[in-house]
Amino acid sequence: MQKLIIKGSRELSGKISISGSKNATLPILAASILASHVKIKNIPLVKDIFTMIELLNFIGLKTNLIKKRNIIEISNKSENINTLAPYKLVKTMRAGVLVLGSLLTRYGKAKVSLPGGCAIGTRPVDLHLFALKKLGAKIKIKDGYILADAKNGLKGTIVRFPSISVGATENALLAAFKAKGRTILKNCAIEPEINDLIKFLKKLGANIYLKGRTIFISECKIHSPKVIHEVIFDRIELGTYMIAGALLAKKDLIIDKINPKIVKSEIDLLKKIGVQIIKKKNSLIIKKGKSLKKINIITKPYPGFPTDLQAQLMVLLTQAKGISKIKENIFENRFMHVPELKRMGANIEIKDKTAIIKGPTKLTGAEVMATDLRASVCLVLAGLIADNRTIINRIYHLDRGYEFLESKLKKCKAKIKRV
Ligand code: UD1
Repeated sequence: MQKLIIKGSRELSGKISISGSKNATLPILAASILASHVKIKNIPLVKDIFTMIELLNFIGLKTNLIKKRNIIEISNKSENINTLAPYKLVKTMRAGVLVLGSLLTRYGKAKVSLPGGCAIGTRPVDLHLFALKKLGAKIKIKDGYILADAKNGLKGTIVRFPSISVGATENALLAAFKAKGRTILKNCAIEPEINDLIKFLKKLGANIYLKGRTIFISECKIHSPKVIHEVIFDRIELGTYMIAGALLAKKDLIIDKINPKIVKSEIDLLKKIGVQIIKKKNSLIIKKGKSLKKINIITKPYPGFPTDLQAQLMVLLTQAKGISKIKENIFENRFMHVPELKRMGANIEIKDKTAIIKGPTKLTGAEVMATDLRASVCLVLAGLIADNRTIINRIYHLDRGYEFLESKLKKCKAKIKRV
């Protein structure tokens, strides 16, 4: 099994270019089932994306991934394909459940494995099914599979989500694409990745309009035969490297291929903690603050502070003076990095949904275990500032979502290697 070995306490400087967003690419790949031919640019070459492509191939789409250029071309001319998403593919990558909405729209039926639990919580799909049922799909659960049927097509309606879900909003958008008449989705997630999916669907011919947390969709009657789309940058990858810079950039760390407007709340937060950030049109310059200040924060749906940056922020707060608090409000079990950070010397206590971080503490290298994607990268950040050597096990989690992590960090003078 592969491990990462990091020699800590080295300054970071240089330039990091941010890859395309994994969480934007996944629903767009699912949406390509609706099109006859698409070309998607800025695809991140990470495991979750390969799994989604495998799923599209399994279903019967023709895919051509050009790795050198981060481009994929997908065509789906067939009216007779396999409307099945099997357990072996959905269990490793929950976003597989997003093909449900597209398959129902185009083929009127789908059999999709229930994703099951994952390390950070139970992660049900009831909100996805709630929206699909409202749109007229008949849903049964049998042998661990969702059996969905909409032989006579879906019908536009009003769906008010009882709570905000990124995936459920995406699945509902894919199902509403051709639903008869007009659909109004209320209390939606409005993450930038959802906006990117909307842009893609508009290119396919959809008539979609967003106001606050409400999305209006009119039945799509005309399809564009060929669509080209460039995926937005990965704001979580950006946030991760901003925090790396905040910890270790005595000189400038430049992060480019981004849009600062999309991460305004993260930039404001880091500035409040004491990090020096200069905004340019498509880049940021990060410099470690003279002294980092404590802060209290709650994870929330966009535009609030993202749960996907919670673990990374915690590492930064181990270096801030005073007592900081992070309340994890999205997932029930997302503090699994805490025992590992404590083994490295962090002073963190968990009370219910809140982590209480006392700082600053010196971290020392240790052998640690990665438990999920974001927890793994938080251990990389911790390893980068720790004294001595840190060994991170189970790094396959990292490969699910961070493109070229080691080479990007190495270019900025980090000592990190995979063995
Ligand atoms: C997406 C992101 C993930 C991120 C999360 C929250 C992708 C591929 N993944 O995941 O990186 O951490 O948003 O920003 O984009 N819930 C229900 N019922 C449902 C669906 C969700 O109760 O049917 C709950 C979840 O358990 C969780 C909360 O709603 O507590 C938010 O989850 P959701 O926004 O759906 O996350 P994902 O789309 O799975």
